[in-house]
Amino acid sequence: MAQKKKIMLTGDRPTGRLHIGHYVGSLRQRLELQDDPSYEKVFVMIADAQALTDNFDDPDKVRESVFQVALDYLSVGIDPKKTHILIQSEVPQLHELTVYYMNLVTVSRVQRNPTVKAELKMRGFEGESVPVGFFTYPISQASDITAFKATIVPVGEDQEPMLEQCREIVRTFNRTYDCDVLVEPEIYLPENEACLRLPGTDGQAKMSKSLGNTIYLSDDEETLRKKVMSMFTDPGHLRVEDPGKIEGNTVFTYLDAFVQPDSFEKFLPEYRDLDELKDHYRRGGLGDVKVKKFLFAVLNEFLSPIREKRAYYEAHPEEVIAALRDGTEEARRAAAATLADVKRAMKIDYFESWADEYGVK
Ligand code: TRP
Repeated sequence: MAQKKKIMLTGDRPTGRLHIGHYVGSLRQRLELQDDPSYEKVFVMIADAQALTDNFDDPDKVRESVFQVALDYLSVGIDPKKTHILIQSEVPQLHELTVYYMNLVTVSRVQRNPTVKAELKMRGFEGESVPVGFFTYPISQASDITAFKATIVPVGEDQEPMLEQCREIVRTFNRTYDCDVLVEPEIYLPENEACLRLPGTDGQAKMSKSLGNTIYLSDDEETLRKKVMSMFTDPGHLRVEDPGKIEGNTVFTYLDAFVQPDSFEKFLPEYRDLDELKDHYRRGGLGDVKVKKFLFAVLNEFLSPIREKRAYYEAHPEEVIAALRDGTEEARRAAAATLADVKRAMKIDYFESWADEYGVK
Protein backbone atom coordinates (compact mmCIF):
# COMPACT_ATOMS: atom_id res chain seq x y z
CA MET A 1 0.00 0.00 0.00
CA ALA A 2 1.19 3.49 -0.79
CA GLN A 3 2.36 5.47 2.21
CA LYS A 4 -0.50 7.34 3.83
CA LYS A 5 -0.04 11.09 3.35
CA LYS A 6 -1.34 13.52 5.89
CA ILE A 7 -4.15 15.56 4.43
CA MET A 8 -6.58 17.77 6.29
CA LEU A 9 -10.07 18.63 5.21
CA THR A 10 -12.88 20.27 7.07
CA GLY A 11 -15.80 22.54 6.36
CA ASP A 12 -18.60 24.75 7.55
CA ARG A 13 -22.17 25.25 6.48
CA PRO A 14 -22.60 28.82 5.32
CA THR A 15 -25.78 29.78 7.12
CA GLY A 16 -24.43 32.83 8.95
CA ARG A 17 -21.23 34.34 10.23
CA LEU A 18 -18.87 32.24 12.31
CA HIS A 19 -18.67 32.74 16.06
CA ILE A 20 -16.11 32.23 18.80
CA GLY A 21 -17.44 28.70 19.37
CA HIS A 22 -16.36 27.85 15.82
CA TYR A 23 -12.98 29.35 16.61
CA VAL A 24 -12.13 27.26 19.66
CA GLY A 25 -13.94 24.19 18.33
CA SER A 26 -12.28 23.98 14.93
CA LEU A 27 -10.74 27.12 13.38
CA ARG A 28 -7.88 27.11 15.89
CA GLN A 29 -7.02 23.50 14.98
CA ARG A 30 -6.97 24.44 11.30
CA LEU A 31 -4.55 27.28 11.92
CA GLU A 32 -2.26 24.86 13.71
CA LEU A 33 -2.37 22.29 10.94
CA GLN A 34 -1.85 24.72 8.08
CA ASP A 35 1.53 25.49 9.65
CA ASP A 36 2.40 21.86 10.34
CA PRO A 37 4.95 20.80 7.73
CA SER A 38 3.95 17.14 8.01
CA TYR A 39 0.68 17.98 6.24
CA GLU A 40 0.90 17.67 2.53
CA LYS A 41 -2.36 19.44 1.82
CA VAL A 42 -4.90 21.41 3.77
CA PHE A 43 -8.43 22.03 2.50
CA VAL A 44 -11.25 24.02 4.03
CA MET A 45 -14.65 23.78 2.44
CA ILE A 46 -17.55 26.18 2.46
CA ALA A 47 -20.30 23.56 2.33
CA ASP A 48 -22.99 25.53 0.52
CA ALA A 49 -24.62 22.47 -1.05
CA GLN A 50 -25.00 21.00 2.42
CA ALA A 51 -26.37 24.31 3.75
CA LEU A 52 -28.98 24.19 0.99
CA THR A 53 -30.24 20.78 2.15
CA ASP A 54 -32.20 22.57 4.84
CA ASN A 55 -32.10 26.10 3.44
CA PHE A 56 -32.98 25.41 -0.18
CA ASP A 57 -35.78 27.99 0.01
CA ASP A 58 -33.44 30.73 1.24
CA PRO A 59 -30.70 30.97 -1.39
CA ASP A 60 -29.93 34.58 -0.49
CA LYS A 61 -28.93 33.59 3.01
CA VAL A 62 -26.58 30.89 1.75
CA ARG A 63 -25.09 33.09 -0.97
CA GLU A 64 -24.46 35.96 1.44
CA SER A 65 -23.00 33.60 4.04
CA VAL A 66 -20.51 32.04 1.61
CA PHE A 67 -18.76 35.38 1.34
CA GLN A 68 -19.08 36.13 5.06
CA VAL A 69 -17.59 32.78 6.02
CA ALA A 70 -14.73 33.37 3.57
CA LEU A 71 -14.12 36.71 5.32
CA ASP A 72 -14.21 34.96 8.69
CA TYR A 73 -11.60 32.44 7.52
CA LEU A 74 -9.24 35.04 6.15
CA SER A 75 -9.63 37.30 9.18
CA VAL A 76 -8.69 34.60 11.68
CA GLY A 77 -5.57 33.82 9.67
CA ILE A 78 -6.46 30.97 7.36
CA ASP A 79 -3.89 31.69 4.70
CA PRO A 80 -4.84 30.88 1.11
CA LYS A 81 -1.16 30.23 0.35
CA LYS A 82 -1.24 27.32 2.77
CA THR A 83 -4.90 26.31 2.83
CA HIS A 84 -7.09 25.68 -0.20
CA ILE A 85 -10.44 27.29 0.52
CA LEU A 86 -13.12 25.83 -1.72
CA ILE A 87 -16.80 26.18 -2.48
CA GLN A 88 -18.50 22.79 -2.33
CA SER A 89 -21.09 23.29 -5.08
CA GLU A 90 -18.31 24.31 -7.48
CA VAL A 91 -16.66 20.89 -7.26
CA PRO A 92 -18.98 18.64 -9.30
CA GLN A 93 -16.88 15.52 -8.61
CA LEU A 94 -18.18 15.57 -5.03
CA HIS A 95 -21.73 15.11 -6.22
CA GLU A 96 -20.72 12.33 -8.58
CA LEU A 97 -19.08 10.44 -5.73
CA THR A 98 -22.23 10.84 -3.65
CA VAL A 99 -24.30 9.04 -6.28
CA TYR A 100 -22.02 5.98 -6.12
CA TYR A 101 -21.75 6.01 -2.31
CA MET A 102 -25.54 6.04 -1.99
CA ASN A 103 -25.53 2.41 -3.13
CA LEU A 104 -23.44 1.46 -0.12
CA VAL A 105 -25.62 2.90 2.65
CA THR A 106 -29.01 1.73 3.86
CA VAL A 107 -31.89 3.96 4.89
CA SER A 108 -31.86 2.46 8.38
CA ARG A 109 -28.16 3.23 8.77
CA VAL A 110 -28.74 6.92 8.07
CA GLN A 111 -31.76 6.90 10.40
CA ARG A 112 -29.53 5.59 13.18
CA ASN A 113 -27.01 8.43 12.77
CA PRO A 114 -27.37 10.38 16.04
CA THR A 115 -26.54 13.73 14.44
CA VAL A 116 -29.18 13.20 11.77
CA LYS A 117 -31.68 12.13 14.43
CA ALA A 118 -31.07 15.25 16.49
CA GLU A 119 -31.24 17.52 13.47
CA LEU A 120 -34.46 15.99 12.17
CA LYS A 121 -36.02 16.66 15.52
CA MET A 122 -34.67 20.21 15.74
CA ARG A 123 -35.97 21.08 12.28
CA GLY A 124 -39.35 19.48 12.83
CA PHE A 125 -39.02 17.04 9.93
CA GLU A 126 -41.56 14.46 11.03
CA GLY A 127 -41.76 10.85 9.91
CA GLU A 128 -41.11 10.51 6.23
CA SER A 129 -41.62 14.18 5.33
CA VAL A 130 -37.88 14.83 5.43
CA PRO A 131 -36.40 16.05 2.14
CA VAL A 132 -34.29 13.34 0.52
CA GLY A 133 -31.42 15.80 0.07
CA PHE A 134 -31.28 16.53 3.78
CA PHE A 135 -31.61 12.88 4.72
CA THR A 136 -28.65 11.89 2.57
CA TYR A 137 -26.27 14.66 3.60
CA PRO A 138 -24.07 12.33 5.69
CA ILE A 139 -23.32 10.48 2.45
CA SER A 140 -22.48 13.71 0.70
CA GLN A 141 -20.25 14.65 3.62
CA ALA A 142 -18.41 11.35 3.16
CA SER A 143 -17.75 12.46 -0.42
CA ASP A 144 -16.42 15.81 0.84
CA ILE A 145 -13.92 14.01 3.02
CA THR A 146 -12.90 11.09 0.80
CA ALA A 147 -12.61 13.14 -2.39
CA PHE A 148 -9.49 14.71 -0.90
CA LYS A 149 -8.31 11.47 0.71
CA ALA A 150 -8.38 13.39 3.97
CA THR A 151 -6.72 11.67 6.91
CA ILE A 152 -7.60 14.29 9.53
CA VAL A 153 -10.86 16.20 9.94
CA PRO A 154 -10.91 18.92 12.62
CA VAL A 155 -14.56 19.40 13.58
CA GLY A 156 -16.75 19.81 16.63
CA GLU A 157 -17.66 16.86 18.77
CA ASP A 158 -21.16 16.75 17.29
CA GLN A 159 -19.65 15.63 13.97
CA GLU A 160 -18.23 12.34 15.29
CA PRO A 161 -21.21 10.30 13.93
CA MET A 162 -20.58 11.83 10.48
CA LEU A 163 -16.98 10.68 10.61
CA GLU A 164 -18.03 7.20 11.74
CA GLN A 165 -20.48 6.97 8.85
CA CYS A 166 -17.76 8.13 6.47
CA ARG A 167 -15.34 5.49 7.74
CA GLU A 168 -17.99 2.82 7.17
CA ILE A 169 -18.51 3.98 3.59
CA VAL A 170 -14.75 3.84 3.02
CA ARG A 171 -14.55 0.28 4.34
CA THR A 172 -17.60 -0.88 2.39
CA PHE A 173 -16.28 0.68 -0.81
CA ASN A 174 -12.79 -0.77 -0.49
CA ARG A 175 -14.19 -4.20 0.38
CA THR A 176 -16.89 -4.24 -2.32
CA TYR A 177 -14.52 -3.20 -5.08
CA ASP A 178 -11.54 -5.00 -3.64
CA CYS A 179 -9.26 -1.98 -3.61
CA ASP A 180 -7.66 0.52 -1.25
CA VAL A 181 -8.72 3.63 -3.12
CA LEU A 182 -10.50 5.40 -0.26
CA VAL A 183 -8.84 6.53 2.98
CA GLU A 184 -10.37 6.32 6.46
CA PRO A 185 -10.31 9.73 8.15
CA GLU A 186 -9.77 10.52 11.81
CA ILE A 187 -11.47 13.27 13.77
CA TYR A 188 -9.31 15.95 15.40
CA LEU A 189 -10.87 17.45 18.52
CA PRO A 190 -9.69 20.30 20.74
CA GLU A 191 -7.88 19.14 23.88
CA ASN A 192 -9.27 21.80 26.16
CA GLU A 193 -12.59 20.65 27.63
CA ALA A 194 -14.12 24.16 27.47
CA CYS A 195 -13.37 24.32 23.75
CA LEU A 196 -15.16 21.09 22.87
CA ARG A 197 -18.52 22.73 23.07
CA LEU A 198 -18.57 26.36 24.02
CA PRO A 199 -21.99 27.19 25.50
CA GLY A 200 -24.09 30.18 24.44
CA THR A 201 -23.80 33.47 26.36
CA ASP A 202 -27.10 32.54 28.06
CA GLY A 203 -25.69 29.26 29.36
CA GLN A 204 -27.56 27.11 26.81
CA ALA A 205 -25.57 24.14 25.58
CA LYS A 206 -24.92 25.53 22.12
CA MET A 207 -24.40 28.88 20.43
CA SER A 208 -26.97 29.43 17.76
CA LYS A 209 -28.14 32.39 15.81
CA SER A 210 -31.79 31.58 16.46
CA LEU A 211 -31.23 31.66 20.23
CA GLY A 212 -29.43 35.02 20.00
CA ASN A 213 -26.68 33.77 22.33
CA THR A 214 -23.63 34.00 20.08
CA ILE A 215 -20.52 36.16 19.99
CA TYR A 216 -19.45 36.58 16.39
CA LEU A 217 -15.87 36.88 15.25
CA SER A 218 -17.02 40.04 13.51
CA ASP A 219 -18.71 41.67 16.55
CA ASP A 220 -17.52 45.22 17.23
CA GLU A 221 -16.28 46.34 20.61
CA GLU A 222 -19.58 47.77 21.86
CA THR A 223 -21.56 44.72 20.79
CA LEU A 224 -19.03 42.51 22.52
CA ARG A 225 -19.20 44.57 25.72
CA LYS A 226 -23.01 44.35 25.85
CA LYS A 227 -22.99 40.61 25.23
CA VAL A 228 -20.35 39.90 27.86
CA MET A 229 -21.88 42.14 30.50
CA SER A 230 -25.24 40.38 30.16
CA MET A 231 -23.80 36.87 30.22
CA PHE A 232 -25.17 34.03 32.28
CA THR A 233 -23.18 33.31 35.46
CA ASP A 234 -24.22 31.55 38.65
CA PRO A 235 -27.86 32.39 39.36
CA GLY A 236 -27.23 31.68 43.07
CA HIS A 237 -24.48 34.28 43.28
CA LEU A 238 -26.64 37.25 44.24
CA ARG A 239 -24.40 39.41 46.41
CA VAL A 240 -20.67 39.93 46.01
CA GLU A 241 -20.02 38.27 49.39
CA ASP A 242 -21.90 35.09 48.40
CA PRO A 243 -19.85 32.05 47.45
CA GLY A 244 -20.15 31.37 43.72
CA LYS A 245 -20.14 28.32 41.48
CA ILE A 246 -17.65 27.82 38.66
CA GLU A 247 -19.25 24.74 37.11
CA GLY A 248 -21.83 25.74 34.54
CA ASN A 249 -20.81 29.37 34.92
CA THR A 250 -20.48 30.54 31.36
CA VAL A 251 -18.13 33.42 32.13
CA PHE A 252 -15.60 31.02 33.59
CA THR A 253 -16.08 28.52 30.76
CA TYR A 254 -15.18 31.28 28.30
CA LEU A 255 -12.18 32.24 30.41
CA ASP A 256 -11.06 28.60 30.35
CA ALA A 257 -11.20 28.72 26.57
CA PHE A 258 -9.68 32.16 25.94
CA VAL A 259 -7.42 33.25 28.76
CA GLN A 260 -3.77 33.69 27.73
CA PRO A 261 -0.66 33.31 29.90
CA ASP A 262 -0.24 37.10 29.98
CA SER A 263 -3.91 38.03 30.37
CA PHE A 264 -3.71 38.52 34.13
CA GLU A 265 -0.60 40.64 34.00
CA LYS A 266 -2.24 42.85 31.39
CA PHE A 267 -5.81 43.14 32.64
CA LEU A 268 -6.12 41.85 36.20
CA PRO A 269 -2.70 41.94 37.86
CA GLU A 270 -4.02 41.36 41.38
CA TYR A 271 -4.50 37.67 40.47
CA ARG A 272 -1.78 35.31 39.38
CA ASP A 273 -3.87 32.99 37.26
CA LEU A 274 -7.29 31.57 36.58
CA ASP A 275 -7.13 29.14 39.50
CA GLU A 276 -6.62 31.97 41.92
CA LEU A 277 -9.53 33.89 40.43
CA LYS A 278 -11.77 30.83 40.60
CA ASP A 279 -10.83 30.19 44.22
CA HIS A 280 -11.79 33.71 45.19
CA TYR A 281 -15.09 33.40 43.35
CA ARG A 282 -15.87 30.13 45.12
CA ARG A 283 -15.05 31.61 48.53
CA GLY A 284 -17.19 34.69 47.93
CA GLY A 285 -16.22 38.34 47.80
CA LEU A 286 -15.66 38.51 44.05
CA GLY A 287 -18.38 40.17 42.00
CA ASP A 288 -19.61 39.06 38.57
CA VAL A 289 -19.02 42.51 37.09
CA LYS A 290 -15.31 42.34 37.80
CA VAL A 291 -14.97 38.91 36.21
CA LYS A 292 -17.04 39.99 33.21
CA LYS A 293 -14.90 43.08 32.68
CA PHE A 294 -11.85 40.85 32.66
CA LEU A 295 -13.45 38.48 30.18
CA PHE A 296 -14.39 41.44 28.00
CA ALA A 297 -10.76 42.60 27.98
CA VAL A 298 -9.53 39.11 27.10
CA LEU A 299 -12.04 38.62 24.29
CA ASN A 300 -11.57 42.11 22.97
CA GLU A 301 -7.85 41.58 22.73
CA PHE A 302 -8.50 38.33 20.88
CA LEU A 303 -10.98 39.88 18.45
CA SER A 304 -9.12 43.14 17.70
CA PRO A 305 -6.66 41.78 15.14
CA ILE A 306 -9.43 39.65 13.61
CA ARG A 307 -11.58 42.77 13.12
CA GLU A 308 -8.64 44.58 11.53
CA LYS A 309 -8.01 41.80 9.06
CA ARG A 310 -11.68 41.62 8.26
CA ALA A 311 -11.78 45.34 7.49
CA TYR A 312 -8.82 44.83 5.16
CA TYR A 313 -10.51 42.03 3.22
CA GLU A 314 -13.82 43.88 3.12
CA ALA A 315 -11.94 46.65 1.35
CA HIS A 316 -10.23 44.10 -0.98
CA PRO A 317 -12.98 41.75 -2.17
CA GLU A 318 -10.87 40.87 -5.21
CA GLU A 319 -8.44 39.05 -2.90
CA VAL A 320 -11.28 37.10 -1.32
CA ILE A 321 -12.63 36.07 -4.71
CA ALA A 322 -9.17 35.08 -5.98
CA ALA A 323 -8.54 32.95 -2.88
CA LEU A 324 -11.84 31.12 -3.38
CA ARG A 325 -11.28 30.65 -7.09
CA ASP A 326 -7.75 29.26 -6.70
CA GLY A 327 -8.72 27.03 -3.79
CA THR A 328 -11.70 25.65 -5.68
CA GLU A 329 -9.59 24.91 -8.75
CA GLU A 330 -7.05 22.97 -6.71
CA ALA A 331 -9.92 21.11 -5.05
CA ARG A 332 -11.36 20.14 -8.44
CA ARG A 333 -8.02 18.67 -9.46
CA ALA A 334 -7.71 16.62 -6.28
CA ALA A 335 -11.34 15.42 -6.41
CA ALA A 336 -11.04 14.52 -10.10
CA ALA A 337 -8.07 12.27 -9.36
CA THR A 338 -10.02 10.43 -6.65
CA LEU A 339 -13.08 10.14 -8.86
CA ALA A 340 -10.96 8.56 -11.58
CA ASP A 341 -9.66 5.99 -9.06
CA VAL A 342 -13.21 5.33 -7.87
CA LYS A 343 -14.50 4.79 -11.40
CA ARG A 344 -11.64 2.47 -12.22
CA ALA A 345 -12.35 0.43 -9.10
CA MET A 346 -16.04 0.28 -10.05
CA LYS A 347 -15.17 -0.68 -13.63
CA ILE A 348 -16.96 2.29 -15.11
CA ASP A 349 -13.87 3.93 -16.57
CA TYR A 350 -15.01 2.98 -20.10
CA PHE A 351 -13.13 5.41 -22.28
CA GLU A 352 -9.93 4.96 -20.30
CA SER A 353 -9.95 1.17 -20.66
CA TRP A 354 -12.02 0.07 -23.67
CA ALA A 355 -9.42 0.81 -26.26
CA ASP A 356 -7.00 -1.63 -24.61
CA GLU A 357 -9.69 -4.20 -23.92
CA TYR A 358 -10.90 -4.31 -27.53
CA GLY A 359 -7.46 -3.89 -29.05
CA VAL A 360 -8.29 -0.53 -30.61
CA LYS A 361 -5.23 1.46 -31.71
N1 TRP B 1 -21.49 19.11 8.66
C1 TRP B 1 -20.49 20.08 9.00
C2 TRP B 1 -21.08 21.04 10.02
O1 TRP B 1 -22.29 21.15 10.11
C3 TRP B 1 -20.00 20.86 7.80
C4 TRP B 1 -19.32 20.00 6.77
C5 TRP B 1 -19.72 19.73 5.50
C6 TRP B 1 -18.10 19.29 6.95
N2 TRP B 1 -18.86 18.95 4.87
C7 TRP B 1 -17.84 18.64 5.70
C8 TRP B 1 -17.20 19.15 8.02
C9 TRP B 1 -16.73 17.83 5.56
C10 TRP B 1 -16.09 18.33 7.85
C11 TRP B 1 -15.86 17.66 6.62
O2 TRP B 1 -20.35 21.69 10.72
